[in-house]
This record gives sequence, C-alpha cells and structure tokens, in this order.
Amino acid sequence: MKYGYFDDQEKEYIITTPDTPLPWINYLGSENFFSLMSNTGGGYSFYKDAKLLRLTRYRYNNVPLDSNGHYYYINDNGTVWNPGWQPSQTPLDSYECRHGLGYTCYSGTKNKVKASVTAFVPLHDSCEIHKVTLENASDAPKDFSLYSYVEFCLWNAMDDMTNFQRNLSTGEIEVEGSVIYHKTEYRERRNHYAYYAVNAEIDGFDTDRNTFVGTYGSNKEPVMVGKNSSGNSMASGWSPIGSHRLSIHLEPGEAKELIFVLGYAENPDDKKWSAPNIINKEPSKSVLDKYSTSAQVNEAILSLKKHWERLLSTYSVSMSDEKAARMVNIWNQYQCMVTFNMSRSASYYESGTGRGMGFRDSCQDLLGFVHMIPERARERIIDIASTQFEDGSAYHQYQPLTKKGNLDIGSGFNDDPLWLIAGVSAYIRETGDWDILKESVPFDNDETKSQSLMEHLRRSFGFTKNNLGPHGLPLIGRADWNDCLNLNCFSTEPGESFQTTGPSEGPVAESIMIAGMYVKYGKEYATICRMTGLEEEALKAEESVKEVYDAVLKSGWDGKWFLRAYDAFGEKVGSKECEEGQIFIEPQGFCVMGGIGISEGLAEKALDSVKEHLDTPYGIVILQPAYSTYQKHLGEITSYPPGYKENAGIFCHNNPWITIAETMIGRGNRAFEVYRRTCPAYIEEISEIHKTEPYVYSQMIAGKDAKNFGEAKNSWLTGTAAWTFVSISQYILGIRPGFHGLIVDPCLPDSIEEFTAIRKFRGADYHIQVRKSKHGEPKAFLVDGMSMEGNEVPFEEGKKEYHITVVLP
Ligand code: BGC
Ligand code: NOJ
Repeated sequence: MKYGYFDDQEKEYIITTPDTPLPWINYLGSENFFSLMSNTGGGYSFYKDAKLLRLTRYRYNNVPLDSNGHYYYINDNGTVWNPGWQPSQTPLDSYECRHGLGYTCYSGTKNKVKASVTAFVPLHDSCEIHKVTLENASDAPKDFSLYSYVEFCLWNAMDDMTNFQRNLSTGEIEVEGSVIYHKTEYRERRNHYAYYAVNAEIDGFDTDRNTFVGTYGSNKEPVMVGKNSSGNSMASGWSPIGSHRLSIHLEPGEAKELIFVLGYAENPDDKKWSAPNIINKEPSKSVLDKYSTSAQVNEAILSLKKHWERLLSTYSVSMSDEKAARMVNIWNQYQCMVTFNMSRSASYYESGTGRGMGFRDSCQDLLGFVHMIPERARERIIDIASTQFEDGSAYHQYQPLTKKGNLDIGSGFNDDPLWLIAGVSAYIRETGDWDILKESVPFDNDETKSQSLMEHLRRSFGFTKNNLGPHGLPLIGRADWNDCLNLNCFSTEPGESFQTTGPSEGPVAESIMIAGMYVKYGKEYATICRMTGLEEEALKAEESVKEVYDAVLKSGWDGKWFLRAYDAFGEKVGSKECEEGQIFIEPQGFCVMGGIGISEGLAEKALDSVKEHLDTPYGIVILQPAYSTYQKHLGEITSYPPGYKENAGIFCHNNPWITIAETMIGRGNRAFEVYRRTCPAYIEEISEIHKTEPYVYSQMIAGKDAKNFGEAKNSWLTGTAAWTFVSISQYILGIRPGFHGLIVDPCLPDSIEEFTAIRKFRGADYHIQVRKSKHGEPKAFLVDGMSMEGNEVPFEEGKKEYHITVVLP
C-alpha cells in the first residue's frame, strides 16, 4: 500500500495522507542552519550542532507521535485546525505534503479555506523561511485568525530536557513589532539569540507557553487559539515560545501570502561582552530585510532548486528502469548529502543529543557525496583525520561544533583507521587532488602534533599491521564495523553496560571483516604510495596485504563461507561449528570486495551461501541463525531479540557490499536483485509493512526471525545511502573514478539492456552510452570514436568533453 507517489519531474515525493505509518520527514538546510520537518509540520531546528545550539524544542517518546513542530493554527468561526493536520488533528477536507530537495510544502483545506506552507532554509543564511499562503475558495468573504507557534529550546538540548531546576528560571524574550527575540542565555554568553518574525503587522502575540497553551492545556487546542485571542504575554522563565496572531480577511477567491522567518543570529565578535543583556539586532534585521517579500522568497526558492540541479547533475543516468533511475538521479544522492550534513546526529531516531560525527560513518558517507561537493569532502577529511591518534587509532566520534573527539566514547574500534584510507582514496580518485596528502593535519586535535595527511594514512595502515592476532588476522578491539560484536567484553557481567574494558584490550579476538578491509584498502594505500613515488613502501604494503590475504585463506575460510571472527578465547564466530551465528554477511561482502577468494573460486561459494542462508524477500539478514540468548562473550549483538538490529536484522548498510561483490564475479542479475530488495522506490508499494519513508533508506529492516518482519527503523542517517549509491552507480552501472581516470565497467542485469549517463568528473563532461551487444555486434569500448584497451579512460588535463560508447558482450 502506498501513501503517496513520486513526482520525478519536480523531484518530489507527494504524501497524500497525514497519518502515514510513521512520521515521514525531510531535511531543510545545507550549511549551518538545519531543520527536520515531518509531513505534518513536526520537527525542530538547530544551528550547526543539534545538541548544543538547538533553536526549537522537540519531545521524544511522546504520545501522540511527533510532538512539537513549527505549527500554524487557524480559528475559523470556532473551528480550530492546522494546515498540516497536527497537532489539532482536525480532519481536513484535503491534504498534501510535498517533500522536495531541501524544502517541504504542505497544505490543508478546511471549510473552503486553503492554507499552504512552503518551508525551506535559504542558501547562505541561517534561518528557516515559511511562505504561508491563505486562500478563500468559497463565494463569501472569510474572516479568521492565523496563529504561528514555535516552542523555543533553551539551546543545549540535553540540558533543556533535564536541568529543570535551573532552566525554568532562565527564559527571556523581547518583542519588537512583529519580531519575537528569544534571548535566553544571552545574559551569560551574550553571543547568540533566535528571532521569529512575520512580514506583516500582528494583532497579538504570546511568548509564554502556559499563557498560550494553558497551564493544563495541550498543543491540540491552545487556550488562546480557542478563545480567538492572544495574551500578549512576555515569558519570564518557564517555557518561552513564539506565537503571532494575525486577523485575516479574504474576499471570495482572494489569496494572501505571509512570510515567517525563524532565524539564528550571532553578535559580531567585537560586540561580544560589550553590551550587557542588550542584543544587537542588526544581524537579524539584515536577514529579515532580505526575505520580507514574496518575490524575494520565491527567488530564494529558485536559487535553492538550482543549487540542487547543479549538485545532482554530477551523475545522472537515463534508463528504462524508472525506479532505479529515480533513486540514482534524485533520492539516493539527496540522502547522501543529508548524511554528509548530519552524520548520525539528528533524525527521528537519533535525538541529536548523543552521537555527533562518526569517524567510520563520515568516512563512508563521503563515498556517496564526494562527487557532488569535493571541496567540502576535503574539509571533512581534514576534520576527521585531526581526531586520529598518533598510533593510527581514532576517536570513534567527534562533536560537529567543536570538532573535538568525544571522550565518553573514546577509541578502540579497530576498523576505524582503515576507513580513513577509504575516504581519502575516494577523494583523490574523484578529484585528482594529490596535494591533499601534503596537508599538515594534527593528531588528536593538537596542532603541535601535526603531520602530513599521508603520514596519517601511513599510521592508519600501520595500525592494522601492528595489531594482528594469533592467526595473523587483524585484532578486533572493542568492535569492528559491527558495533555490537564485542568479543572483548567478557569481563562484563550480565546487567552491566556493554562498555568494553578499553581500547587496547583483547590480544586474541580477531576480525575477518577487518582483514577484508585491510586487503581492499591496503591495496589502495599501496597504489597511493606508488603514485607518489614511494615504490618501496608500496611493495612493503603489498607484501603485508598478501600476508593477511593468505591468513584469511588459511584461517578465515569455513568451507563454504568466510568466518566472521575469532573470539577472546580463540573460538570461531560465524562458523558451521557454532550453534547460532553460523554465517555473517560482513566478511562475505568485504573479503570479496577485497578480491579475496575470487581466483580461488571461494568468492562464488561465499556469495552462494549468502543467498542460501541469509536471503529474505526484504533483503539479506546480517547473520543466521539468530542468537536466542544473551552471551556475554559476544556482547551487545546478543542483547537484541532475534531479527532486530545486529542480531539477524536486515542491516541495509551491508546489502550493497553483496551487490558489489556479485558484480566483481560478474553476476549482474543477482547484484541487481540484491539492490532492488532494499531499494526504497521498489518497496514503496509495501509502505504499510515497511513503514518508514519510501524515498530514503533505513538503517535496519526487521529480519525473518522478528515478529515485525519487513518493518524498517532508523531512516535517513545510515551508511546505506552511500554504499547503495556506490553499488548502483559505480558497480552495476559501473561508472567509477579510478586513480588515472574514469572507469566504465558495467555489470548489468538482464532487465537493463542499455543506458546513457552524464558524469561530470574533474571538470569535464563524460557522455556515456552503454548497450548490450545485439545481433552479433562485437563488444567495443570507444572513446570519442576511437577504440580503447581496458576500461579506465585516462584523464587528460584541459579536455572538457569525453564521449564514451561501450558495447557489452
Ligand atoms: C547500536 C548500533 C549502533 C551503536 C552506535 C548500538 O547500540 O545497536 O547499531 O551502531 O549503538 O553507538
Ligand atoms: C550504526 C553505526 O552508525 C555504524 O557505525 C555501525 O557500523 C553500524 N551501526 C553497525 O553496527
């Protein structure tokens, strides 16, 4: 069942009912100011950091679901309603929500009044703009009240949720004309405030929540809205809000537009500390002047649309499979950009108060956005590498505002260092910018300990090399990619947390998944060495990679698939000898991606085993059989009920590893089958089962052992976005950056006979045509009409156009 449909022309998903199975959200903002917005107007805004500079309040774990947002209420002759249905839930005569790229429009009609809200964050300014259009579709004049409503968060979202003894006494507000200034904390910090304004004269306002909502009232029908009045309240402590009231008169057929702006302002530095408690309104005024008319706002929306056109034009494909095409051209790339902005910090499943930017997460996200914003990828790489330690290990996460490593979580995830090589290699292949390797980058954010980025890569590679276990396989540390496979937490008693004992613990537990990574990224590291003139180092790296390759063949093969790990007692994990957890997806994907076992015929066996043991109609589960009981020597993985998350859930993130692995052994049909199973556009039809947004990937779909088999959770912020984009764009369609130029190496299913693509790469346009040979046409690889050996089209400085035709055998 569907709750909407795709409009590929407009690049929108159109939701036709407000009570979707779960809130279906969108992200507004691409630089510093961000908002999450659900299809009913729910969500919140923040500046740079969802934890530390939160503008509006959101309530987690609430009933009804999705509580708090940037709402509009209408009181039309005693009928109170919201254009987005929430929070009054007054039934609407019509409803629609269009989520587009960086903007959301929703509208509702009630008693012949249509109210539409277009919400977006303009490029380069730190505010969210709402264009509210009110239309009278009846044949009589209409008089009604319109109320705006936001509830301010007292900046630090974590503190705001917990430290009531202080926070209930700090709230401060100022009102000037139609602008409400939220200046809590200003007394103390004197550097930032929020403002909420409308471009019209108001007939009343409220800034104190209890006055507006009623002490025991609810957002469903705030008392002031019910009374068709305003308290003109000035918050003093408690909960500051911003609400404007406007009396609207519309003649039959008449429409009015209003512009609401919610902004964040910082005092210029020289004013800091100089004027106690008096905010400098200039920064807010200049933004409000810029967006005070509909014409200005329409212009800003247009610029935003052009911005997205430009970003997406880097990779666009045209083919008969319209579902795959819409994911490649629009939604998958869009989600990749959102993961660039958010990492794993703020979604409807990440509270924005816990996790900041992940080291491994951001390195993987980069694989999906580097082609769109290479300059920002470069900055991101430097930020990430700056949190690395001198021994090559790394903080697992860092806070976006401070860019400092997160001490609470620390380090010890032994896959982390290798992801840095993955990210830098992808960046160099995309841009040809070898100079990045010469950048001086601190260790542990300490400028006195700066070394070249190349040295950081060397330490990354060296970390794995220096931390091999008894079988010559990489030590797992606290965990590898699978956060929950905690093989060194055997000292934890049941009932205690899963924290492992420290980064260096565990001289025995080894990971075959990291071995696969080491082989894959170790080879890329060796190429980087070679191409920068470090031939000897390249050879040494290759030697070490070969040793680990051999160690996998010797001690990491279980007969029909790759083992997952050796635990802290030297016992096998992910083996037919185990009672549960006999086969895991990760090493099958990563070892084959690293090329292990391809020439030995093992890759095919491993991937066949995946199909035989892990396949389901909704995707490939992470392991089988699921762990039925908690086992402390395996850690958090066994804490989940069977079928959820890392305990045999369909962890969408590693499905594309199988897709890629399948293309590496030339099985296009199976590769595409795996791709399709978790592809949002393909499963839109089962939204009542899948439940999360049908336009983006979710982290996890409940596996076959779970009661809610097929139900997804944790949409948006997942490495699935980047990896599925890599799998379809670089491996199935086969257009991928190499160190010397652009590679075109498709591995198509029977259902895709041909396609054309435009790829912008290192400043040139590549026009690519791929078709399968028909009627005995010989296979061919032509560049500008000339036949070429191999499949990597050498990049020529200064050349702006390449025409590539590939005829597949
Ligand atoms: C979750 C993992 C997640 C990790 C992040 C675990 O509890 O199960 O999926 O990666 O926390 O910190
Ligand atoms: C989600 C985390 O963000 C990611 O880093 C991890 O690899 C997966 N969960 C698997 O545990």
